[in-house]
Amino acid sequence: MKALVTGATSGIGRCIAESLHKRGWKLILTGRNEKVLKGLQKKFGGGTEIIKAELSDRKEVFRVYEFCRDKNIDLLVNNAGYGIFGKFDSTDLDDELSMIDVNITALHILTKLFLRDFKKRDSGYILNVASVAGFMTGPLLSSYYASKNYVIRLSSAIYEELRREHSNVKITVLCPGPVNTNFNNRAGVSFSVKPVSPEYVAEYALKRLFQGKFFAIPSLTAKLCAVGQRFVPERLLAALTYSVQKAKKTNGV
Ligand SMILES: NC(=O)c1ccc[n+]([C@@H]2O[C@H](COP(=O)([O-])OP(=O)(O)OC[C@H]3O[C@@H](n4cnc5c(N)ncnc54)[C@H](OP(=O)(O)O)[C@@H]3O)[C@@H](O)[C@H]2O)c1
Repeated sequence: MKALVTGATSGIGRCIAESLHKRGWKLILTGRNEKVLKGLQKKFGGGTEIIKAELSDRKEVFRVYEFCRDKNIDLLVNNAGYGIFGKFDSTDLDDELSMIDVNITALHILTKLFLRDFKKRDSGYILNVASVAGFMTGPLLSSYYASKNYVIRLSSAIYEELRREHSNVKITVLCPGPVNTNFNNRAGVSFSVKPVSPEYVAEYALKRLFQGKFFAIPSLTAKLCAVGQRFVPERLLAALTYSVQKAKKTNGV
């Protein structure tokens, strides 16, 4: 069995790659950090392939697909992603558009192209990494939250289409709460709730994926958020999220 993992150089993606490797899977790993990719290739050995790619560039996304298309991929893990903190009028537009390209466009392209291949042979798995943020409005991390809403809604629609067709292709959406990775450093925030480990998140996500479950929500706090938000009026939820996000900022808003 062979998997393509995006964002495999760090955090959740790296742990998913390690968990798959322990299960005997062959891996194709992508990220921007070539040194880390080469280190992982050496560590996992035995046929591990790497492809350095900047996923905010659409051409690079297609290049990753072309690299994989004749390699009988059984599992696509769309994990690469990041967040940008700040009031919507003050965040950098180019940075934000790049984030949308990674979090939404790259995931969208790869999901469509691999789904077509998987459906032709009626087998394959897709694991899309969203966030518990995808259930909510996220003032101060507005476009990040919105991007993860997109990932959940897109994946959910595909799940339903596959279910109606009695397809053997499976799709799971991973919705973690805070996880102890490089994510917060990059977004320039700190945790306001105790994070879980990326190793735990990876194992949990793969367990749910191989059970054919749609949601993988890997902690009690995240589960409470995912369910609880349904019972809170939208304006109150946005106000609560604002307070939670403001408390996370390390150097003022
Ligand atoms: N950590 C959390 O609290 C948390 C919670 C919920 C959801 N998530 C989601 O989990 C996923 C993984 O994040 P993480 O927490 O593991 O963060 P991380 O440690 O910062 O890892 C992010 C990964 O994405 C890759 N990446 C980022 N920008 C990229 C780009 N432009 N082109 C190609 N690759 C890119 C990075 O590769 P390079 O460094 O090599 O570029 C890295 O491997 C993200 O989708 C994130 O939104 C995280």
